[in-house]
Amino acid sequence: MIHRQLQPFPADFLWGSASAAYQIEGAWDTDGKGPSVWDVYTKQEGTTYKGTNGDTAVDHYHRMEEDVALMKEMGLKAYRFSIAWTRIYPEGNTHVNKTGLGFYDKLIDHLIAADIEPIVTVYHWDLPQALMDAYGGWESRQIVDDFDRYCRTLFTRYGDRVKYWVTLNEQNVFIGLGYNAGIHPPGVQDEKRMHQANHHAFLANAKATTSFRELVPDGKVGPSFAYGPVYALDAKPENILAAENAEELNNHWYMDVYAHGTYPQTMFRYLQEKGTAPQLEPGDDAILKQGSAPDFMGVNYYRTTTVEANPLDGVSSGKMNTTGKKGTSEDTGVPGLFKTVKNPNLEATNWDWEIDPQGLRIGLRRIKNRYELPVLISENGLGEFDKLEEGDRVHDPYRIDYLASHLEAIQEAVSDGVDVLGYCTWSFTDLLSWLNGYQKRYGFVYIDRDEESERSLRRIRKESFYWYQEVIRTQGASLLQRAGGSS
Ligand code: BG6
Repeated sequence: MIHRQLQPFPADFLWGSASAAYQIEGAWDTDGKGPSVWDVYTKQEGTTYKGTNGDTAVDHYHRMEEDVALMKEMGLKAYRFSIAWTRIYPEGNTHVNKTGLGFYDKLIDHLIAADIEPIVTVYHWDLPQALMDAYGGWESRQIVDDFDRYCRTLFTRYGDRVKYWVTLNEQNVFIGLGYNAGIHPPGVQDEKRMHQANHHAFLANAKATTSFRELVPDGKVGPSFAYGPVYALDAKPENILAAENAEELNNHWYMDVYAHGTYPQTMFRYLQEKGTAPQLEPGDDAILKQGSAPDFMGVNYYRTTTVEANPLDGVSSGKMNTTGKKGTSEDTGVPGLFKTVKNPNLEATNWDWEIDPQGLRIGLRRIKNRYELPVLISENGLGEFDKLEEGDRVHDPYRIDYLASHLEAIQEAVSDGVDVLGYCTWSFTDLLSWLNGYQKRYGFVYIDRDEESERSLRRIRKESFYWYQEVIRTQGASLLQRAGGSS
């Protein structure tokens, strides 16, 4: 569709930015916080780039007020952050840590005082290590009740002030990398175990959503899904079928359950035939159904996935580029279904992530047509090397180009009729990039630290900071000037 004129962004559009507790807070064992699986995993030899961890991260725990002041200066309308489960329940499911609750009270109150809508992510991967030790975390059904207890504590405590909630961040990523690729905790490589852990995560998500309806009836809740819309490499029918397979396994498998409470049937049968389908117990269907129909589909969008056919003895796992040396990532796949290939039509970042703003519009359209749900873009951004230059300047036009082109694609999607509630860039400040250390930077605010040293941890506004400030001030109208258009 080519529109003669684009619709403006909605007046109440949430111009936002995002972060996650483990990646920014630091203070990993301060004020009664318990250890999470990431606190433990990152200290095992060879798990992360240059052995980096979030012990200090960017020290947001101690610099929260300064960070919120920067958000206010920028004019941010919304800030998505996650709560560390282990600050609230240090052992996962026993006593509540009042100091932990107090930290987020303070953060929420500062945001509200700065006219910034808080968007809380309940779970951004930092499972209490105690629950991993006690029963294997997501591999046990006990997690469902423990997660619900934790959620109910948060909904009760903050539900009066926080109206936007994200349940699980990227279930497809923490489960896929944790239980199949084996590069996130707990480092398991087993497809059957992965699908079972994934099923428990669905149950936990559904139960928490049901609790939310009871405790925060005037709020909005949804999951954040890492959506990589799938393309076929070309028009060969076997590659088109491979793309259908990938869209179903990678995407519908998750979003169908969130939206409708049911797994896609052809893929479920295929996994049953293979012996890796999850085991459902009586009553599970009802739990999934009751906790379905979120208020929005949260979408974390970074790139599309291009695939071709993959034989039964074909490619499965491949190496990820965690160093920033372009061209070092390997293709991955599911034998018998699909394998990923580089898309010859797209440029990629130094970490081999293909840059594809139109893919976001395509994804938004697919969600609109299949689920009829509003979308909150809960993450989108560019991880790149940045250079701190003389006079405290960080010149990052590549980030501005990336974000601007994705916002243009969103405006096209809005004009197509997609209900987009808001846009959270990843990320507000630079932060720890799980497996990639501190050199893969995403923020509007540069943090003076690297893998070797915490240096001063000073906050320095990048050029993109001022650019986004203007986008927000003009409600997106400045984007049209960039594109040379008018509305
Ligand atoms: C998403 C996560 O997967 O992508 C974030 O929700 C993460 O936590 C972001 O940082 C970028 O990924 P990476 O691996 O480059 O840090």
